[in-house]
Amino acid sequence: ASPPRQRPRRATRVASGASLLRKSFGELSAAARTGSELVSRWHLQRQRAPADPAPGEAGQTTSSQSRRRKEQGQPSPHRSTPNAAATLSPSDLPITPLREALLDLVHQHPVVIVVGETGSGKTTQIPQYLLADPRFGSDRHAPPQRIACTQPRRVAAVSVARRVAAEMHCELGTRVGYSIRFDDRTSAETRIAYLTDGMLLREAMADVRFSAYRAIMIDEAHERSINTDVLLALLRRSVLGGGDGGAPDRPDLKVIVTSATLNAAHFADYFQGAPVFRIPGRSFPVEVVWRPLTRRPADYVQAAVQQVREVHARGEPGDILVFLTGQEEIEAAAAALERQLEDISRADDTGNTAPDGAPLRLGVLPAYAAMPAEQQQRIFRPAPPNIRKCILATNIAEASLTIDGVRYVVDTGLSKQRVFCATDGGGGVERLLIAPISRASAVQRAGRAGRTAPGVCVRLYSARAFASEMLEEPVPEVQRADVASVVLSLLEMGVVPRATALLHGQGGLEWLDAPAEALLLAAMQMLWALRALDGPSGSITDVGRRMAALPLDPRLARVLLASVDLQCVSEALTAVAMLCVGSGGDSGSGGDVFLRPRHPSAQREAERVRAEWQHPAGDPCTLVRVYDAWECSGYADGWCAAHYVQVRALQRAREIRRQLADILRRWPTRTERCGDGGAVTAASRDARLNAAFTAGLFANAARRCLYEGVGAYTVDAAPATGRRTTCKDGRRSRSAAAADGVAYIHPSSALFHNPPPLLVYYELVETRRPYLRCCVAVPDARWLAQLAPQWYRQVDAEAPARIPP
Ligand code: CDP
Ligand code: MG
Repeated sequence: ASPPRQRPRRATRVASGASLLRKSFGELSAAARTGSELVSRWHLQRQRAPADPAPGEAGQTTSSQSRRRKEQGQPSPHRSTPNAAATLSPSDLPITPLREALLDLVHQHPVVIVVGETGSGKTTQIPQYLLADPRFGSDRHAPPQRIACTQPRRVAAVSVARRVAAEMHCELGTRVGYSIRFDDRTSAETRIAYLTDGMLLREAMADVRFSAYRAIMIDEAHERSINTDVLLALLRRSVLGGGDGGAPDRPDLKVIVTSATLNAAHFADYFQGAPVFRIPGRSFPVEVVWRPLTRRPADYVQAAVQQVREVHARGEPGDILVFLTGQEEIEAAAAALERQLEDISRADDTGNTAPDGAPLRLGVLPAYAAMPAEQQQRIFRPAPPNIRKCILATNIAEASLTIDGVRYVVDTGLSKQRVFCATDGGGGVERLLIAPISRASAVQRAGRAGRTAPGVCVRLYSARAFASEMLEEPVPEVQRADVASVVLSLLEMGVVPRATALLHGQGGLEWLDAPAEALLLAAMQMLWALRALDGPSGSITDVGRRMAALPLDPRLARVLLASVDLQCVSEALTAVAMLCVGSGGDSGSGGDVFLRPRHPSAQREAERVRAEWQHPAGDPCTLVRVYDAWECSGYADGWCAAHYVQVRALQRAREIRRQLADILRRWPTRTERCGDGGAVTAASRDARLNAAFTAGLFANAARRCLYEGVGAYTVDAAPATGRRTTCKDGRRSRSAAAADGVAYIHPSSALFHNPPPLLVYYELVETRRPYLRCCVAVPDARWLAQLAPQWYRQVDAEAPARIPP
């Protein structure tokens, strides 16, 4: 039977975090398809986890806290002192004269909130100040304690650690180091560690008292990443005592929370009246120019490119910073600009000249989370005199990275955000959506233009959209993203005895903003179906503990554990490691092991070679194929170049694979058996690998359908943000598909040219359309019932069904 044509339907309920996002766009129509409708179409039904409360109890968020605060705006003082020098030495940063005052305050209070403009020296200087002060000097303690500084982003942790090591004249990894997932550059000698917030959370799983640290600075707290919020809750418990009246276990620990925006009152309130230390800004006026997208060009990437051209043609000096949404968009813009560069310099009668008389040329520099290290360093280096830097960045340039010399900002008003879309039937799908930023982010982005001289910010949206459609502040991730991993970590730490305690606000954790209940419920269902929770009590199982020990998304951890039973551990290790390459940044994976050369003819050749790698069974098999071939070549660099594969990506995958294998080796094999033979166990190596992925990603099943006459896939839940017609005209068609619960196989996927009737996917990402990335063909529908019996049951030979509640 051919699948029915998709039509938009009304959602009855969506995750509260997602609905917060929706609220900012008054006229968004929720066209989400409900889970139960999907179920009937697929003949799939699903069971609620026994620990779930009745449906009526879910769906209300307890975010009154988050609405309570209204930050009084405090404009940064504009000084007119010209500051031509692009790089400031540590001795004349805005924070420098305030050193003693800050240290005294930290001495007197367990928690201090620090607020200051980007570039004032918070991240690089404060840990050094603490280290040098005998009151906090870590060397008195035996064994010596460290000073930690967390970052929401990998790129920032690495780049800032490099910078501080240089300032302290030591080698990276000695007194100053960094620690990010799968890459630990610290040693016994390390006294200042820059870590991603996820890594510190991981350390907390082994030691929830943070006893290795004398002071912990939670940087960029205003971003409200999920890991930062959990760390804040754990630290609050350690220094101020638990919400249930528990005594503080680390009264000596110093906590510093920094924030570039002015939402300090909320943090101060949360830490029971912690003092707020303000570093006066050293910024220049920024003129805001509104250029809302019109019909043409309707594409924000094109529009941004157009603005860069116009700014460049005006001929005044100063670098350009463009805020885009992800690696793919950045690469598209870079390609467009490079095509146009020739025209720009040839039609250069605008008098664009550099000091030495040579025409000013545009040097395009991409900046995104998964970019290679050497590329990162280029962003910070000043450009040669006849080159104008044009940095095409994601959110990472908003505050985490300080880039000097920028005079022009082009702000698309968008960023890629994780949004978990829960559905009526329970469960749901996390999507990476392109969604409007908050006003706080817009102000922050504009500020990037005024760091070293007066600047200009071109906004690709209207003043009206800014005032009436953007949220004041971003919705905290804990109220809009998948919280399964966090729930598992908290259970493993023993901070909460049972997952249900989180629902009822028990367990001694006080949140800055409580996680949305719908998200907690969906996470618990997922963890239960992954066998990490035991049903009735919601406590962690042995499988759950193993999953927690693996530094992976719980679903990928499950893939590895399932591969043990399916006897394809080696392949699964490879595939998971390859998937982890480049992930963990601000936009999920998106890292790609394949090279995408810029030159058109090289591009065609790369495409051709890539097509040869593609495996009809899906992307994990393709990745294993590439890795194995590289292994056979003796891990040769030359092999990578010849096959258009990124050397560094493969080297990193090899390292990740080694680390994951070490963890797996800790446990005796044979954990549990999957189903009773049948389709899966008799299968070949490729099928077994796909089965392991199905065992982890079962909830992300998608079935082929026709959508507006074109082959597409129905996915579990539609996004709450639906149609963003108000802020950005002309972006309706992409969102319409998303709102209808339809997505497409990403063109880079191995299954793009060979779409199977049923698949599971790892990620749902929106770029121009909603795309499924990393797809795995599920050749036999019975696999779902066999590999995820908690989620699906067999109805007849052809149709596994989601288990009815
Ligand atoms: O954290 P905050 O934004 O307050 O400033 P910071 O990151 O400590 O930066 C202070 C100074 O160090 C700025 O002038 C940056 O340009 C410089 N810096 C750098 O050159 N390279 C880095 N990787 C980080 C900072
Ligand atoms: Mg900083």
